[in-house]
Order: sequence, then structure tokens, then C-alpha cells
Amino acid sequence: PASDPHLVERARAAKEALGDRVFVLGHHYQRDEVIQFADVTGDSFKLAKDAAARPDAPYIVFCGVHFMAESADILTSDAQQVILPDLAAGCSMADMALLPQVEDAWDALVDAGVADDVVPITYMNSSADIKAFCGRNGGAVCTSSNADVALEWAFDQRPEGTGKVLFLPDQHLGRNTAVLEMGIALEECVVWNPHRPNGGLTVEELRDAKMILWKGHCSVHGRFSAESVDQIRATVPGVNILVHPECRHEVVTRADLVGSTEFIIRTIEAAEPGSSWAIGTELNLVKRLADAHPDKNISFLDRTVCYCSTMNRIDLPHLVWALESLVAGQVPNVIAVDAETQEWARVALQRMLDLPG
Ligand code: 13P
Ligand code: SF4
Repeated sequence: PASDPHLVERARAAKEALGDRVFVLGHHYQRDEVIQFADVTGDSFKLAKDAAARPDAPYIVFCGVHFMAESADILTSDAQQVILPDLAAGCSMADMALLPQVEDAWDALVDAGVADDVVPITYMNSSADIKAFCGRNGGAVCTSSNADVALEWAFDQRPEGTGKVLFLPDQHLGRNTAVLEMGIALEECVVWNPHRPNGGLTVEELRDAKMILWKGHCSVHGRFSAESVDQIRATVPGVNILVHPECRHEVVTRADLVGSTEFIIRTIEAAEPGSSWAIGTELNLVKRLADAHPDKNISFLDRTVCYCSTMNRIDLPHLVWALESLVAGQVPNVIAVDAETQEWARVALQRMLDLPG
């Protein structure tokens, strides 16, 4: 539905009153009614870089989910405050890797005699304390835009042929990148299940593995199936299938193209008029692409898959409330990561930002 004109006017007036004192960041999965007020939009990699782009703005309103706001807090100065318009905007994938679980897994890797070979890499979609764990243990952060370069960097940290990666928390991004971009065999990828003793793995399996994948997934992208791909191919002649690497391996291997949300946008912008596309990523973005490109035939890969419910929690009423609170001199919903966690998480984030490319 179109956004309430009264609320649109209130958001516009509050933003105008705040002027340069507020910088609004919007992830591509946000609702249209919110994204229209973003000063910059992007995928999580671009937003991590953009967060630091306005050091003079005391308030950063982050229209996205909790882990992204934490990263913005880590990458901006102490004088800046990061505001998440709804504190319930979390991420189910990030919640699948909790620090005590990861520390237990690491202890098990030490007991198995493999920890010295292991470099921990965490997807951006993780809490600040998991990023700090990676920073402290010689690892780095990656996003879906640079997971291949981050894995190459990780294997380069160990003598040739000896390195292993503990990949947190998205098994699909880890597996897809390892197998499709790095040439690692599927059999060399094992899954660590934090709810089973020793991750459900034997010491031999840990010794033989190149990739130890955390058993986490995205509750949106994980729902696209091989059948959705087969069905679209059977019904839309000449369709190009474009998916995000958080999709399952059997979906990604059946697709024509795979990449981050920024890659998906660039691909559609460059596509021929009249071409047909089925896109497997969050629905707000797919709808926006379809609206922006009426000369191309754009559909959602599987109509039974829903919006990301936590991304959608940031709606216009919450944004208006956050902006108007700032105008009134109150700073609501501040995301503040403690100093020690910040220090080590920044190490892991900086290793990512320093990667080539
Ligand atoms: P990117 O922004 O890295 O493409 O990730 C998608 C996502 O699921 C963010 O929550
Ligand atoms: Fe988390 Fe998936 Fe939603 Fe992204 S789309 S915020 S990974 S649940």
C-alpha cells in the first residue's frame, strides 16, 4: 500500500529540521516507505563503508537490522550515535551463532588438534561479539560481496595446503563460495551443529575438512528450493535466474547468476529490455526492481516465500518516531557496542575493508 501522506510529511519535516545532524542509511531490503528517506542505500558491505562517510553527523539512523547498526557503531566515531528505529529488528541468522557456542566449538577444535590451522571468518550477518571473536583469533569479517576474497585471504594465512576456515554463521554462503568460487570439493565442507556434542563431527572429519560451516541459515533465502527454479524454467521461456548466495547450494547451482544485493541490482540495470528474470532474494528489493524496470519481465523466484519480517519491522511510523524524538532532543534506541568488543570487532572489520578489490 502507498505510504500514509500525513506520516510522509512528518518524516520530511523532521528530516529537514535535523538537516546535516542526521544521516539515514537504508538497506536494500527495507520498505519503499522507509527507503525514500535514506540518504544512502546499499547492501551490507556498502553500508559498512558508507557509515563512516559523514563523520560530522551526530546521529546515524540505521534502517536495517541490529547487526548492521552494531557495525555502523563500531566504524563511526564515539561522538556519533547510531539509532535503530525498532529494537526488535534483529536477524534470525545472526541469532544462530551465540558467543558461548562458538567458544565451545573453538575449544573442541583445540582438543582435536586442528585449531592452529583454522582461520575464523564471519559473515557480516553476525553479532558484534562474534566479529570480536574472529578479530581476536586472527580472522576477519566478510559480506556476500567479498566472501571469495576473504576466503582466499584466510587460506593465505596458513602454509599452502594446511589451512581450514571456520565459517560463521551462514552455511550456505560458506559452502557456495568455497565450492563455486574456490574449487573446494563438497566433501571437504562439514557442518558444525552447535546443538550436538562436538558439533556432530568426529575428529577425523574435522582433520580432513577444509571448510567447517556453522549450521546457520537465512530464514528467507533458505526457503527458495530447487523445485522453485525448475518450475520457473518450465513456465517462463528464456528466463534468467538470479539468486543471492544465502540460497541453498542446489538452488545456486541451478541458477544462471549468483551475487549480493548490489550485484543483483547492477545485473538488472544492465539487462536487455524485454529480457525475463526470476530473482531469489528479499521481496521488497525484487518488487522495487520490477517497478523501476517496467521494460523487463521481472518476477519473484517463489511466491510462497515472504518478506524478511525483521527488516520489515522498520516501517514509516517507527522512522517518524525516531526522527521526531531527535528533533525533540531525545536520542532513542541507541545501539552502543561495549569498548572491548568494539576494539576486536573493528580489527575483524578492518581486515575485511583492507581486502583487495
Ligand atoms: P547483503 O546485503 O550482503 O547482500 O546481504 C543480504 C542480507 O541478507 C542482509 O541481511
Ligand atoms: Fe537476516 Fe535473512 Fe533477514 Fe537478512 S534477509 S536480515 S539474513 S533473516
